[in-house]
Amino acid sequence: MSKILVVDEDSKAVGSLINLLKSEDDFQVSAVLSRDQALNRLADEFFHVVITDDNSNVDFGKSIIEQVVEQYAQTQCIIYASQGSITGAVQAMKKGACDYLNHPSDPSIILSTVKAAVAKASLDTPKRRRTDSAPGVRFGELVGESPKILKVFNAIDKVAKTDSTVLITGESGTGKELIARAIHYNSARCNKPMVVINCGAIPGELLESELFGHEKGAFTGAHRTRVGRFEMADTGTIFLDEIGDMSPDLQVKLLRVLQEQSFERVGSTKTIRVNIRVLAATNKDLISSINDGTFREDLYYRLNVIPVTVPPLRERKSDIPLLVNFFLKRLGGRRRQDRRRMKTLSEDAVKMLMEYDWPGNIRELENMIERLSVLVEESVIQADDLPERIRGRTTKMRPTALESLEDGIDFNGAVEHYQKSLILEALNQTDWVKAKAADLLKMNRTTLVEKIKKMNLEAVRVSNKQDSL
Ligand SMILES: Nc1ncnc2c1ncn2[C@@H]1O[C@H](COP(=O)(O)OP(=O)(O)OP(=O)(O)O)[C@@H](O)[C@H]1O
Ligand SMILES: [Mg+2]
Repeated sequence: MSKILVVDEDSKAVGSLINLLKSEDDFQVSAVLSRDQALNRLADEFFHVVITDDNSNVDFGKSIIEQVVEQYAQTQCIIYASQGSITGAVQAMKKGACDYLNHPSDPSIILSTVKAAVAKASLDTPKRRRTDSAPGVRFGELVGESPKILKVFNAIDKVAKTDSTVLITGESGTGKELIARAIHYNSARCNKPMVVINCGAIPGELLESELFGHEKGAFTGAHRTRVGRFEMADTGTIFLDEIGDMSPDLQVKLLRVLQEQSFERVGSTKTIRVNIRVLAATNKDLISSINDGTFREDLYYRLNVIPVTVPPLRERKSDIPLLVNFFLKRLGGRRRQDRRRMKTLSEDAVKMLMEYDWPGNIRELENMIERLSVLVEESVIQADDLPERIRGRTTKMRPTALESLEDGIDFNGAVEHYQKSLILEALNQTDWVKAKAADLLKMNRTTLVEKIKKMNLEAVRVSNKQDSL
């Protein structure tokens, strides 16, 4: 499906355009009434083409074309010049529109122009112009310029051109899902579906019918036939997230789909053939899962045709200033009056961020920037505004044994304190999502829950929340 967004600022001409586009099976057409609504939609989902008659420089400074070119480089803009003005069209092209249509135009011209734009959006590898206007930003939302992330960008460029299975590994919060999306949207399948399924979030017995679908009556509760994710992803890409959490039973079934590109719905004997590109991701060390006997070796080799390893943020700290800027800008909003309120970080604060190790990676950084931009009143966020785990990490969170030993030490108390601070740190970094915190601590979730209870950490959470209000 090719996704088209029509921005209907005020024109009647657009109605017939929308009807024409909707008559094409391959187009999924959405219409919004204003530039702001358009930018909100674009922030949420990818569109191949934006068609707009808004080429004005009035009110907020930038036309929608300029904003799309800056923020969503892969999306193509077509100007719909309802006045038939040539100068307007020329201006629009200068701003980065890929084409223009005069109203009225022959339907065949409209359709071929839109199809050409879709093809451009689909096949263009990340555009230079995006890199030109915003240094370090590539593949839509992926930011970075450190040598390590550039290597990943390079890998995305290469694997996007193939149909090979890719296994993306990296710690939690490093951007695995964004990378999977970048691979799909830069591949020849980009105007076909990308279906995402989190294998860790769905219990084993449900996951099977979620993946493969089921026939009516296949099990209690199966009131009607259901199409699974593999069928939905036919001709496109399926992204199997948290693959390391899949049960051994399902691993066997998945292996077969990978080998044969076919499967049966639960409760059916009819074989369904599909043409699917598989991307998978995990934050687990699958080699040790193979050694534990929880992950099949043959499946591992099937998935790991092309490995993409995402480095943790602590190994690419030079990306931090760029990321901070990107998040602040995004939080600042898109309208000019919002941008005036955009916050910045003092040099000291940035320096401090670069000294911290970011165990929760980019997600932790993103959440922290969001929290700071809400809680800090001043326009410049200072080092003092940063949370204690970042400001006082060496002295407060982790007293070194030698410092404390000078006056003797209560061993059990110190161990308890250390445990508590580590657990709190992990919980804070993961917004108290216990499963994620347990992953960070390489600990069983139930063990973590017991410790939280025993140490009464929920109380700490409540008091922290009150502090920050
Ligand atoms: N290079 C990047 N540039 C900008 N934002 C990024 C980048 N990498 C990650 N992010 C942001 O960080 C957050 C975490 O990314 P993502 O969900 O892709 O991580 P993940 O590796 O899949 O994590 P998990 O293993 O916990 O599922 C997202 O909000 C994403 O937008
Ligand atoms: Mg993920």
